[in-house]
Amino acid sequence: MILITGATGHIGKELVPQLFQVGCSLRVLVRDERKVADLNPQIERAVGDLSKAESLIPAMRGVERIFLVTMDKPQDVNVIEAAKRARVQHIVKLSTLEAAEHKIAVGKWHYEREELIRASGLDWTFLRPGMFMSNSIDWWSASIKAQGAVFFPGGKGKVAPVDPRDIASVAAHALTQPGHNGKAYELTGPELMTIKEMVETISRTIGRSLVYRGIPPIAAKLFMLKSGMNKVLVNALMEMLRSLRRNEGAIVTDTVQQVINHPPRTFEMWCRENVAAFQN
Ligand SMILES: NC(=O)c1ccc[n+]([C@@H]2O[C@H](COP(=O)([O-])OP(=O)(O)OC[C@H]3O[C@@H](n4cnc5c(N)ncnc54)[C@H](OP(=O)(O)O)[C@@H]3O)[C@@H](O)[C@H]2O)c1
Repeated sequence: MILITGATGHIGKELVPQLFQVGCSLRVLVRDERKVADLNPQIERAVGDLSKAESLIPAMRGVERIFLVTMDKPQDVNVIEAAKRARVQHIVKLSTLEAAEHKIAVGKWHYEREELIRASGLDWTFLRPGMFMSNSIDWWSASIKAQGAVFFPGGKGKVAPVDPRDIASVAAHALTQPGHNGKAYELTGPELMTIKEMVETISRTIGRSLVYRGIPPIAAKLFMLKSGMNKVLVNALMEMLRSLRRNEGAIVTDTVQQVINHPPRTFEMWCRENVAAFQN
């Protein structure tokens, strides 16, 4: 039995069908069962919350492997404790590319949590992806629909955005095949792009001209604070933006190809499959 956390999130919702198609026994841990009403009834549901340790005990009964998406360190602590009690074998944790150097806050937070898992005695695999392609929907679809524009302080920095489906495929391999214990996989897409080039790709794909405005970082900070985001998180995101603008995220790896034996999808391919998300 594989327990999938974050089943409604960007990676989890791609991972569940991939594992189900190959016949895995699955259980999803969800806070709200209604959000997974569409899943095949053969997939077990466990209602629980990663922040509530007691809710994880029944969720882990009979589980051998876990796909883990956590938001903070106490959640990892809860999962490790419950996993040890349930004699879980292997945790495949969704981490981040920045954990490799763990210089900036987001990388440090994930690295710290990786260390807890490493020290737990459980088998582990860490997935360290760069920017998800799907961020472009979360961050830009509203202004694209309303104004035909993207406002973002990307500067000249480049990233190699990665398709959530490819991250899920790597997770599926790590959860079902031998040879992934003790590995930390840095996962990127195939090509380096500036944010302006990403917007141009969306524009070409949806057949609508879009404007990219490279706003000053402080404008992005004020926007995030005004929209009610937590100050600590905003500061961490500002640090990531600084790192992007200094081109420190310009990393391409061939790990997706190595693990799944298939080249990672391009941003253009992903855009073609997600045209509707940018249209009214
Ligand atoms: N976005 C990127 O570019 C990127 C890049 C590298 C790494 N990452 C990492 O990927 C992870 C996911 O990031 P994301 O922002 O994109 O999130 P996401 O995919 O939206 O996923 C969040 C998932 O976690 C679940 N969840 C949240 N709090 C929970 C709780 N207390 N108990 C149980 N489930 C809970 C959510 O379920 P509900 O449906 O209940 O809300 C949802 O399924 C983060 O650790 C992030 O650092 C992201």
